[in-house]
Amino acid sequence: MAYLDQLDGDTYEMAAPEAMEEEAAAEPAEAETEMAAAEENVAEEVTAEEPAVAEVDPAPEAEAAAEEPAAEEAAAEASGFVAMVASADVANGEKVYKKCKACHALEDGQNRVGPHLFNVVDRDIASVDGFKYSDGLAAIDGNWTADQLSAFLTKPKDFAPGTKMSFAGLRKEEDRAAVIAYIQSAAQ
Ligand code: HEC
Repeated sequence: MAYLDQLDGDTYEMAAPEAMEEEAAAEPAEAETEMAAAEENVAEEVTAEEPAVAEVDPAPEAEAAAEEPAAEEAAAEASGFVAMVASADVANGEKVYKKCKACHALEDGQNRVGPHLFNVVDRDIASVDGFKYSDGLAAIDGNWTADQLSAFLTKPKDFAPGTKMSFAGLRKEEDRAAVIAYIQSAAQ
């Protein structure tokens, strides 16, 4: 029964239940006072709709305050993800990269379990000399745009069935953007 001990530690406070939908406040009864032959029939009672009080829901996991450099203009043209990479937190990307390190070096020519990732952004897919790629990855045309990398890193086996990259994937888009930003910065 040792698990009971663990349960004791897990006291989370329940979040305050959201206010139930409140019935709209009683509408002001339309004036029934039919003033006989009121000349100015001011029928236009502006029923003031009470603006719903926006309950500011403080984002619980607002981690690092997103720094937004002047990437916004570029964002108009580029994909949203490219803009995310441009404004990503490189230091966070370095942390995320720890998951890649066992298999990938960032130095040109240093292949390990996986091919080196020097300058991988915009590199041809499966093009490192001397690295033996799976047929699955080798079959994919094109180059590693940020969007392609993001798709691959989300779930390698979905993007490239048969890939030999044994990595489940990076579920969070911000992690993918950050690691790509880091890989990019390491090549400069
Ligand atoms: C367990 C080892 C392993 C881990 C962990 C791993 N990879 Fe890979 N990666 C590989 C292998 C092996 C390949 C070659 C895949 C193939 O040929 O199908 C590869 C291929 C790639 C490619 C394609 C490169 C090219 O030349 O086309 C990219 C990009 C890549 N990995 C990025 C990453 C990133 C970023 C991470 C961490 C978030 C990561 N990998 C984690 C083993 C790994």
